[in-house]
Amino acid sequence: MGAWAEGGRGEPVLPIPRDPGQDPGKVALGARLFQDPRLSADNTLSCASCHRLAEGGADGLARSVGVGGALGPIKAPTVYNSGFNLTQFWDGRAASLEAQVAGPIHNPLEMASNWAQVLGKLRADPGYPAQFAALYPDGLTPANIEDAIAAFERSLVTPDSPLDLWLAGDATALTPQALRGYRLFKSYGCVACHQGVNLGGNLYQRMGALGDYFGDRGTVVGPADLGRFNVTGDPEDRHLFKVPGLRLAALTPPYFHDGSAPTLEEAIRVMARYQLGRTIPPGDMADIAAFLRSAVGRHPLLTP
Ligand code: HEC
Ligand code: HEC
Repeated sequence: MGAWAEGGRGEPVLPIPRDPGQDPGKVALGARLFQDPRLSADNTLSCASCHRLAEGGADGLARSVGVGGALGPIKAPTVYNSGFNLTQFWDGRAASLEAQVAGPIHNPLEMASNWAQVLGKLRADPGYPAQFAALYPDGLTPANIEDAIAAFERSLVTPDSPLDLWLAGDATALTPQALRGYRLFKSYGCVACHQGVNLGGNLYQRMGALGDYFGDRGTVVGPADLGRFNVTGDPEDRHLFKVPGLRLAALTPPYFHDGSAPTLEEAIRVMARYQLGRTIPPGDMADIAAFLRSAVGRHPLLTP
């Protein structure tokens, strides 16, 4: 066991609040926009095409596929619980959920569109102009599209997992295996990087802190592998990534920014090897996987 107290206060992991505290009108408008393919150049892809809400908020691919079949450079993370992250994207280049929205709309490998095109299509819709006018004095604008989508994303929280119920004091909520896994998660030191409400999302860390991950991977190191360096230009930031939140990790294989780990067990093995410099026995890996499955909570759009 590490230095962490057991149960209640003092845990390095915090429960997800049940009420995300968002304006219901903005959430409803944001939900509609999130699922509207008119945000893409050829009306084929919505945000939800790559962030499938019923299936964990990601797309199941190692690299996302954009308009016209364009292959992106990186794995899509889940949008659930993204409101808890300190910044958005693997390299943290968007400071907020609002600032993130313009990225995929303009990215030629994603929605390949632009604000003029999107505004033209949404203004011609029979519903949107009035829906925006009812919520925003200046109506349908890029900033208000960003605001509504961000409100919707902040509503995508997944409380009431077995882990959350256990943290709230229900000693029977975790299976013995999941509880063993949580203790191992703490004692091995996973919590040094994966902690807080989202089991991550609040720090930048190097992929390969204690091992040559990219050398051993054996495939060409591309720009998407440079992480935070792409934002700061500081050589110290090469291969630094925002530590991903693990709340829905059990639902969103493959793992890592490069989608290189097909299963949760493999992701745990790679983490132990390259972040902690350890080989951990299969039984411990299975327990940690059971713990991560216990961290999956509920949202009405998420299929249990
Ligand atoms: C073609 C697939 C695709 C589409 C369409 C798409 N995304 Fe993404 N999304 C991704 C990928 C890939 C990333 C990771 C990119 C990176 O980090 O460089 C991402 C990252 C994100 C993140 C950051 C999550 C985190 O934890 O850092 C959010 C939030 C997000 N997308 C929301 C949206 C919204 C809102 C839309 C629609 C306006 C959208 N996405 C459209 C693939 C897509
Ligand atoms: C030194 C910090 C650090 C430690 C310690 C650490 N991780 Fe990670 N973890 C990261 C970073 C950074 C990533 C993203 C790496 C990437 O995508 O290339 C990550 C990614 C993951 C992922 C993949 C999530 C996804 O959505 O792709 C899982 C699962 C994971 N870690 C579990 C663990 C477990 C279990 C342990 C303990 C055995 C652990 N981590 C220890 C920093 C750490």
